[in-house]
Amino acid sequence: MGMPEAQPRTVNAAAAPDFDVQHFRRTLSQFATGVTVITTRASAEMVAAGAPPFIGITASSFNSVSLDPPLVLWSMGTRTNSLPMFRDGTHYIINVLSASQMDLCQRFATLKGDRFAGVDYRLSATGLPILTNALAWFECHNRSRYDEGDHVIFVGEVERCGVLEGPDGPLVFQSGQFSTTTPLEP
Ligand SMILES: Cc1cc2nc3c(=O)[nH]c(=O)nc-3n(C[C@H](O)[C@H](O)[C@H](O)COP(=O)(O)O)c2cc1C
Repeated sequence: MGMPEAQPRTVNAAAAPDFDVQHFRRTLSQFATGVTVITTRASAEMVAAGAPPFIGITASSFNSVSLDPPLVLWSMGTRTNSLPMFRDGTHYIINVLSASQMDLCQRFATLKGDRFAGVDYRLSATGLPILTNALAWFECHNRSRYDEGDHVIFVGEVERCGVLEGPDGPLVFQSGQFSTTTPLEP
């Protein structure tokens, strides 16, 4: 399909880091995030070669960007196998996981083969998997991509989204551990 790549507008030189990668990881990991599974479809060529029709990855890099137009972002490591499918596809779905979906979090981070086998989902307007019991979902047009360091930043334009009011809280990831939220007393 070959979509044009957006380029960063400014790149300013920084001093060399005064820390190693391990320290950087540990420092970053203090920031609590939700957890998403982002889904799209495999290319026709890959399916013809025997690949499963849908692909998905666990991602905690999701965030909001703009209300009008409705934009969100997430980032993907350049060494992720499914990067070409996400880069070249027209749409993806961002599924926000609930606390009862830790199994899906692990599955979509590590499983080789068909990650959707035995997983419940329905198809979105553009025919992509919306996971059953996800807290929320965003159906995004693959608007732009920015190569930055060892990741590609994806900006998605939300065409449809939905909330599922369930009994479960969000799945939260912080300092390498999973938990859920407890409201604080005011
Ligand atoms: C909690 C959690 C958050 C993750 N967040 C991201 C992320 O934001 N971006 C990313 O590229 N990989 C992230 N990963 C790792 C990917 O899920 C993993 O590398 C990917 O599923 C590998 O897919 P592949 O088989 O296509 O290479 C995360 C993993 C976990 C467990």
